[in-house]
Amino acid sequence: MGSTLTVHQNLELLGRYRYVEIQFMELMGSWAYTMVDPEIKIGFGRHMFQDSVHADLLGKRIPELKGRSQHFHSIPPSDEVVKLLETIWKTSDELLRMVALYQVLKPALIGVYRVHLERMELPADEPTSNILRLIADEEQDHTDWGWKVIERLAASSNRTEEARNWREKLTSQLTDAGGIWGEGKKPGTYSFRKTHPYSTHPARDARWKIIHNPAEFKEKDWSFDSNEGKLHLLHDLLNSEFITVERMGLIISDFPEIPWQMKLDMARQAWDEARHAEIVQRRLEELGGHVGMFPTSCFGWEQDVNRPDPLERLALSNMTFESESCKHLRDWIAKAKKTGDTRSLQLVEFLLADEVNHVLYGVHWIDELTKEDPERRKRVLAYPEQVLTGQHPVGVYFNETKNA
Ligand SMILES: [Fe+2]
Ligand SMILES: [Fe+2]
Repeated sequence: MGSTLTVHQNLELLGRYRYVEIQFMELMGSWAYTMVDPEIKIGFGRHMFQDSVHADLLGKRIPELKGRSQHFHSIPPSDEVVKLLETIWKTSDELLRMVALYQVLKPALIGVYRVHLERMELPADEPTSNILRLIADEEQDHTDWGWKVIERLAASSNRTEEARNWREKLTSQLTDAGGIWGEGKKPGTYSFRKTHPYSTHPARDARWKIIHNPAEFKEKDWSFDSNEGKLHLLHDLLNSEFITVERMGLIISDFPEIPWQMKLDMARQAWDEARHAEIVQRRLEELGGHVGMFPTSCFGWEQDVNRPDPLERLALSNMTFESESCKHLRDWIAKAKKTGDTRSLQLVEFLLADEVNHVLYGVHWIDELTKEDPERRKRVLAYPEQVLTGQHPVGVYFNETKNA
């Protein structure tokens, strides 16, 4: 362990870290909509973004170390590690997933970052050292958060021992697989896709009452100029914020081949929406409301996350629903101003600033990726209209299109 790492050894390791960080994003993205616990959904939104930044920082350092070949950008540590990730991904139990990610995989990654930091040639490799320190500290925050959530989940279901046994089993499997460095193993060539079955709605905890008939859903008819109206609208928005964390996660996990910058944008949006959920829930509660006080709906979910083209999803949800949502938020801002509700005004202005970017992500990526494919562009841009009918306010009411 005494010797410092060479440029080439660095490269071989940074590619592994980047592979693992991206796997974390995909695991959280794939899982988010089936997790019942809202704190986990919010945590995943935040961590997907931070892990995308980690992968991005590593990805910028790799070519600086003369790793121009694509090979260095993503190196599966070993086939055994990849297969263990697949087993973990297939685990459906919420507590066991959390244990795997936050008590086994992330601590193992932090462990190798710390060892790497001790073996750096300094100041020659200060740029890598700065990056790894920053990443390791953030990963430590993630695991601290994860431990608390796991303790709460395990204690409330009397599964502390089961969680510990699972942690020990996975830890020894990861060690046998060569760990994050893939020590003693060849880089992996095995890969798997994190596909999901047809989904009709995301998981919600027992407090939420989900309406399945669009005609019964009237929450968006309220106005932001009364306390009661605010409660209805904020409650409805809260559910939409969760939906958007979940659908961004699915773009990241369903389409690993999209451009890296697009993945960064989707991860950024997941974080924005996670923060929005926190902000909106807090304001709802400040105004005397609570989760589950009104019915809610997940219209649009089914028409979004089951589409095989990510651009159709962006056309429907980012370019249509979120664009419509910007209009609503502007109306809320005007009404908050008029009624002297400076607290809501302040918060909604921040929400709107983010939402405008989300619409632009849709516009930009559809334009960028269909430049040379007019057929695809036509199909993508026609998709929202195909879904929306009646158009009360756009994006609110749907026909039943399940079998369309
Ligand atoms: Fe939002
Ligand atoms: Fe948004």
